[in-house]
Formats: sequence, structure tokens, C-alpha cells
Amino acid sequence: MKLSIQQGVNGRWRSRWTFIFAAAGSAVGLGNIWKFPYIVGENGGGAFVLVYLACIMAIGIPIMMAEVMLGRRARLSPINAMLHLSRESKVSHWWSGVGWSGVLAGILILSFYSVVAGWAFHYLMLAMSGDFYQIEAQSSGALFSGLLSNIPALISWHTLFLLITLGIVAGGVVKGLGTAARYMMPVLLLLLMVLVIYSAAVGDFASALSFLFNFNTQALQWNSVSVALGHAFFTLSLGMGAIMAYGAYLPDTKISIGRTVLVIGILDTFVAIMAGLVIFPIVFANASVEPSAGPGLLFVSLPIAFGGMTAGSFFAALFFFLVVIAALSSGISMIEPTVSWLVETKGISRLKITALLGVAVWLVGLGTVFSFNVWSDVTLFGSTFFDALDFLTANIMLPLGGLFIAIFVGWVMKPSFVAEEIGDIRRGLYRCWYFILRYVSPVLLGLVFCITLFNKLSS
Ligand code: PHE
Repeated sequence: MKLSIQQGVNGRWRSRWTFIFAAAGSAVGLGNIWKFPYIVGENGGGAFVLVYLACIMAIGIPIMMAEVMLGRRARLSPINAMLHLSRESKVSHWWSGVGWSGVLAGILILSFYSVVAGWAFHYLMLAMSGDFYQIEAQSSGALFSGLLSNIPALISWHTLFLLITLGIVAGGVVKGLGTAARYMMPVLLLLLMVLVIYSAAVGDFASALSFLFNFNTQALQWNSVSVALGHAFFTLSLGMGAIMAYGAYLPDTKISIGRTVLVIGILDTFVAIMAGLVIFPIVFANASVEPSAGPGLLFVSLPIAFGGMTAGSFFAALFFFLVVIAALSSGISMIEPTVSWLVETKGISRLKITALLGVAVWLVGLGTVFSFNVWSDVTLFGSTFFDALDFLTANIMLPLGGLFIAIFVGWVMKPSFVAEEIGDIRRGLYRCWYFILRYVSPVLLGLVFCITLFNKLSS
């Protein structure tokens, strides 16, 4: 097949740090602030945190290096990058399927991510109007379920979130994504620090520390390992090409992919732990709130906790603002692989493409909106539309994408090409990375994937 693709039409980041902020912005999102605390709560605390950290170090970071490398070598969007690289190594063009599955995963994830980010918008408004002041457990629950059944509100916030996200993407790599990243990440880190200090001052910090770092391995089950691995992928934005697309925009100067990715992995983990240290001290200081409350932890429990504290409304508003920013800087990276592919291949303007994709994502998002109210009884394998999308993307598509990326880099690509891109780290480290990609990641991913499927089908 003859391709008329234009390499490099999407642009380049201004510097290595813009890339770090953009990739960290993609990684840090609802996954860190909303999902991480509640899955830690559901899976018993410290031991789960330990397994999660091991997954990040042993699988997440090596695969992230592989993704950045593929993007930078090809300087193309994920679909075209995989086409180009498979041709370079003289293997089947079917490997571009990795890019295709990423495009689909990105659209699906953004469709429900936008709805949940919309809740955060709504809660930001509630916090600003002082609605959490002295709120009781019951009214907080009613507030959340009230929002879930309010279709016009859900749709409006979903629309607003998508409009901002797509507006940034339409601005392009330098002016849109790059500028957003350079402002959002520092603001996010600053807000997080302020909130941790607040939590430490008014909350039960000691209980939170012991909950997060007390490695009680008894609480750990097989299923938790699968949750930890799936989450490592989701939180690092791996397995769907977001990081590959961003890698294609790296500046030309010699940049060590190993070191750069390490910074991103550390930042993402740091934010997840800090988010835990904001949320759990507040939760533990409040007897009526359970750490294992599930997805509602953030939206039901935190208002109760903030509502009873000094300057709670102000800090609750700061908190939900933080969630919105984190979600925006992730949302833009979900759609970039598709947008950049269409720009390269079809030469259509970014504005037109984002508008069209926006409509598609918005429509799919309605499925998630309805799954909380009119379609709440419609289930597939026992899951609502929202749960099914979450499971399909985070637990199936992303790990599978990661598996194929590891196999491609470890077994299919010519070793000399791989060494050209990553070989600047110490020899021992390089060997270790290559070994992980060839053997450890595929075996672990395959194993956990089977466990996940087995659990799902037998539940
Ligand atoms: N990493 C993001 C988060 O933790 C989610 C994400 C997944 C972003 C996949 C891009 C791609 O919220």
C-alpha cells in the first residue's frame, strides 16, 4: 500500500521539559486522584501499594520507554509509526493494529473520562457556593445520586469538558498541548502541596500513613494483583499510543529516553501517593467515612469531611479544581493519536478534525451518562455501559496494547535499531531493560490478562 503521509506535520515540543510536563500531564489524571485512592481502599492499603509500585517499576517504566522510543524513531502518529517501523524491520504491516486499537481505546476512554471529569466540574461549583458546609453523610450521598440522575446537568458538564479538551487539541502541539502542559503541571503540583499541608494540619495524617505504607500482605488477593497491573497501565497512559504520539514530538537534541521516562514515572507515582495523603487523612478524621467506599470515595466522602473542617469550602474548591486540571491534561492526550493520524494522512485541518471527533466522542459519552440513570438496568456480563467501557479499556485494551508493544520492541524490531534509540544508558541497565521487555513483561502481562478474563467470566 502506498502511503502519502507527511512526517513531522504535527510539530515538535519546545524542549525536553515540555515533553516531560506533557507526558506527566497525560499520566497524572483521574487515575491518580479519583481511582488510585479508592482502589487502594478497596484492596486493603499498603500491600496493594507495594504491588502497584512494583508494577510501575518493573513493567510500566520499561514499556513507557518502548513507547516513547517507537514514537521518536518514526516521528509519526501511532498508526503510521507502527506501519513505518514494521516496514523498516521488514515485518508484517499488521503491527499497525497496535495503533488502531489505541485510537479506538482513546476515543472510548475519553468518552467516559469526560463524564466523570464533568462531575468534578459540578463539585467545583458546589464547593464554591458553600454547599458542603456542615453537610451530613446522608445529604452528601443524596447530592451525588441527585447529580447522577440529573441528565441535563451530566450532559452539560460532559459537553463543557469536551469543548475545553478539544479546544486545546485544536491549538496544535506547540500552542495547544505544549502551552497547556507547561502551565497545568506546575499549577497542579503546587495545589497538591497546599492540599497535603492542609490535610496534615486538619486530618489524621498518622492513620493515613500507616494505611498506605503498612504492608499487610494478608489483605492481598490475586485479583488485587490484576487490578494493580491494570492500573499501572491506566495511570501511566500506556498501551494506547498517547505516549507514543507525544514521543514523536520530542525535540531533535539528544535526549535520554531512559532518564526522561524515569522522571515521568516518578512524578506520576508521587502525585498518586500525595493524592492518597490528601484524601485519607481527611477520611480517617471523620468517623462516618469508610476508606473502602469505592468510586464514590471522592464525591461522597470528601464533601462530608471537608464540610466539617476549618476553611473546608475553600479547600474543597481547590481540590476539585485540581481534579479538573488533572483530567484536562490527560483528556487531550487521549485524542491526540487520532488527530495527529488524520492530520498526517488526510491533510485535513486540526480544527475540522477535532470538531468531528468531538461529536463522535460526545455521542459515545451519552452512553455513560445514561448508564447512571435511564440505562442503569441495562447490563452486559453484569456491568453497565460505563463499567463495561472502563473494564474493556483499562483491563483489556491497554494491557493487550502494552503486550504487543513489548513483543514488537523485544522480539520483532531489529536489535540494532532498538540499541540506537535506547543504548545511551549503562550497559547493564540496558540489558536489564531489554530482558524485561522480552521476557518479564510479556509473561506477566499474559498471566494477569488470563486471570482477569477468568475472574470476569466466572463472576
Ligand atoms: N493516565 C490517565 C489517568 O491516570 C488516564 C489515561 C489513560 C490518559 C490512557 C491517557 C491514556 O487519569
